[in-house]
Parts: sequence; C-alpha cells; structure tokens
Amino acid sequence: MKTVIISNRLPVKIIEENDEYTFIPSEGGLATGLGDVYKSGNSIWIGWPGIEVPEERQEEVTQKLAELNLYPVFLTQNEINLYYEGFSNEVLWPVFHYVVTYAHFEQSYWDCYKSVNEKFAKRAMQVLQRKDKIWIQDYQLLLLPGILREKLPNATIGFFQHIPFPSYEIFRLIPWREEILNGLIGADLIGFHTYDDVRHFISTATRLLPVNSSSNVLNSNERQIVVEAFPMGIDYDKFSDLTATEKVKKEIDYFRTGKEEMKVILSIDRLDYSKGILERLKALELLLQAHPEYIGKIELFMIVVPSRDTVPQYSELRDQIDQFVGNLNARYRSINWIPVNYFYRSFPIEVLSALYATADICLVTPMRDGMNLVSKEYIASRNNNDGVLILSEMAGASKELTDAVIVNPNNLGDIMEAIVTALKMPLDEQQQRMKAMRAIVEKFNVKHWVNNFILRLNEVKDSQKSLLT
Ligand code: UDP
Ligand code: G6P
Repeated sequence: MKTVIISNRLPVKIIEENDEYTFIPSEGGLATGLGDVYKSGNSIWIGWPGIEVPEERQEEVTQKLAELNLYPVFLTQNEINLYYEGFSNEVLWPVFHYVVTYAHFEQSYWDCYKSVNEKFAKRAMQVLQRKDKIWIQDYQLLLLPGILREKLPNATIGFFQHIPFPSYEIFRLIPWREEILNGLIGADLIGFHTYDDVRHFISTATRLLPVNSSSNVLNSNERQIVVEAFPMGIDYDKFSDLTATEKVKKEIDYFRTGKEEMKVILSIDRLDYSKGILERLKALELLLQAHPEYIGKIELFMIVVPSRDTVPQYSELRDQIDQFVGNLNARYRSINWIPVNYFYRSFPIEVLSALYATADICLVTPMRDGMNLVSKEYIASRNNNDGVLILSEMAGASKELTDAVIVNPNNLGDIMEAIVTALKMPLDEQQQRMKAMRAIVEKFNVKHWVNNFILRLNEVKDSQKSLLT
C-alpha cells in the first residue's frame, strides 16, 4: 500500500542544453517541501517535468524518472499555454491571491483545464493499485479528486492546497465555480495551510453547493468530507545542519569578507506579484530618504527566482523590478556600495543556506501567501539564535511565527519602521524571539506535516467505513 502524490509539477524539472536533458530540483514551496520527504516513505509521484518533451524522447524521460519513483505526465505546448499559464496562472492564481483584476476568464482556458485534469487522471489510473492512498496537491488539479472519485468510488483521496483559499465574495466571481467545488469534494480530506482558508472554503462550499456543514465536516449526499488546517513545515534539520558543512562555510566567508560592518537584509522569492517585491523596494527607498544615516551601512540582497515569465503580468513585473532597482541603485550608489544587490536567477541550496545564515534581517513581505517557506528556512538556519525576521501578516507563516516583526505589506511606512526596528534590535531580544520561532519550526517540521495529513486521512476513511456498517 503506497501513497501516490499527484501535483502539476514534479519535484525535478528538465533542463535542455545542446539536446541533452538534465534533471534539476524544481523551485517553489510544494516541490522543495514535499520533495524532501517523499523519497523516505513508500511513495511515488506523478506530475509534469516542466517542459514540452517531443514524443520521440518521452520514453527516455519516463525511464530516467522511474529510477526516482517519478511518473511523468507530458503536456503539449497548447496545454502548457491554456491549462498551466492560462487557467492555473491567469485565473486561479490571481483570484485566489485576491488580485481579481489580473484574471482572464477565458472559456478556452477552462476547457483545457478540464481536459488536462482528465489527462492526469488517466495517467494515475495506469499506476494506481488497489488500496493505494492518493494525495493530490494544489490549485492546478482542483478537478482531479472528483474525476478519480467517479472512477474509484471507494478510493482514499486526500487533497492539499498550497495557496490561500479566498473568501466567498471573491471565489464566486469565477464563472465555473460550482464545477470547481464539485471537483474538490471528490476528496475525503481537504487540507489548507491556515484556519482562515478552511473557514473560507466551508462557507463557499455551503453557499454554492447542496451540502451542509457541521463544524469542519461537509455532508454531501454520498459522503462526509473533512476540511482541516495543516500548516506546512520544512526540513528543519537539513537547514540547520547545512550551515556547518564545508561548502556552506566557504560561501559564508565569501559573502562576509569585506562586509563585516554592513547590515545585510535578505529577500528571496519567485518572481510573483503576490510576493510584494516592488512594495519592498519602495519601502527601502523610503528608508534611504527618511534615514540617510543608513546610506552605505545597509544592503538589500535580493534574489528573484525566474517563474512563469511567459505569463504577461510576470514579465511586466520583471521589467518593473529591473527598472526600479536600476533607478534606485543609480541614485544612491557610491563607488564601493550599492543599496540593492539584485539577482534574477535561482541558486543551489548551499548558497541559499549561506545567505540565510549570514543575513542580519530576512524581509518577507508578500501581499498574500499560502504559507511562505522562505521565512521558515531563515529561522532554521539561525543556529546562533540571532537575526530578525520581518514577516507580512498576509503570509500563512505569520500565524505560527508570531515572534517575527509583523507588518502590513501595503503599508510602506510600516515596513520601513520594521526595518529600522530590526536594525536597532538588541541582541538579547533577537535571541529571545529567534529561540521561540526555532522551537516552533523544529517541532512542526515537514515530516510532522506529512504524518499528520496521512494519519488524518486514514482516520477519515475509517470513520466513513464505520458509518456505512
Ligand atoms: N528556492 C529555490 N531556489 C532558489 C530560491 C528559492 O529552490 O534559488 C526555494 C526556497 O528555498 C523555498 C521555495 O523556493 O523552499 C519557495 O517557497 P515559498 O513557500 O517561500 O514560496 P512559493 O515559491 O512556494 O510561492
Ligand atoms: C507555488 C505553488 C506550486 C508551484 C510553485 C512554483 O508554490 O503553490 O504549486 O509549483 O509555486 O510555481 P510553478 O508555476 O513554477 O510550478
């Protein structure tokens, strides 16, 4: 009896160079978080390897991935355009992150979303065995629980959504809202990062579908569906231990040499308008204007990982960031100092670890974020218990990391003040806050998250069975 994880993106993606395929780790919280644990359990993973693979090379890719217990779903360029970039990232992503003006409710996107969800179901049916547990991940596959339920009425199906679930008033804007909800309630257990997401989902489902709820249980004609919060964690030990490795120590020396007196503020995100990257830069500009005493004394080390840059709003955002950083640096820089050290690329985990371990402040200010694992990775890397996390109240992580300096990401003055507070924070206060947050991140780690979800899924299934007997 194994667990079959199904997500749009596999935890590895293909990079093509001179006709050669290499596999590298995927970015984003779903892949980095779950990618650490799936190998240790009895699990396989079904998903898309990240590029269009021509038919003649699909067998080669399938064989290579099978060595890692990964099962590819191949998407055509048309499916990538309409299902992935289109419905997933131009409808669901903006609506679920409350940026409804960015949504394009195109019928062709929806039609393709349905057919690709069917395609994932077909692929799953090829590898599923009786008694396997099915664990579907995230907003790209909202219809999959319902499709698989029709084919396998007694299957054990869990669903976890890694992004926020919006309030009813926002969700109801989607033209295909009932179909989406009907797809989701094919699952036995539906998980979200926070209790607010759970509340929004239950109120939306009971208003739009013929179901009623008692506490966190939805009752449909056929089954009871449990909806619960499971805040995702990270591999704490991995991040904590990494900082002591030779490779990371070398990177740390490299970063800190010549910058002993500099206060380093770190920011790491995928390119995304939900991450508040521009607002963060504006807050830094405000700080340099209002507090010129910090000119030459602080540096923002900003990593933006390329993501979805074929979607117009993402490429526009990239241009805006490039422009803003260029402008700010040109105005404030001196011969041997620039305010923003900006990278548009991804980095190996050893470099990320060195940055987490050395940055005095980690600035995490999403406009909205399901959880935000970067904030937890920073905490886990602070083995000396120093450093300050500034965290948006709109990130799921803010519900757990209450000892961070919490800010409203729309309030630039608030972010600026938070940076000043962090720069001035005495070491004993830093340590007190950091210790409390480290205890939480250590305890509620990703293994705990997986075990909790799977345990609960088993319980829900057992209680359904006992209701039938
Ligand atoms: N990350 C990465 N490569 C990089 C920078 C970041 O793999 O160069 C990872 C980072 O370590 C984290 C994930 O990307 O685990 C981002 O997850 P988060 O939950 O913060 O945001 P998401 O991208 O899922 O919205
Ligand atoms: C977020 C989503 C994931 C997604 C990741 C990276 O973490 O919740 O489902 O995989 O971003 O985005 P991408 O579009 O590159 O898969």
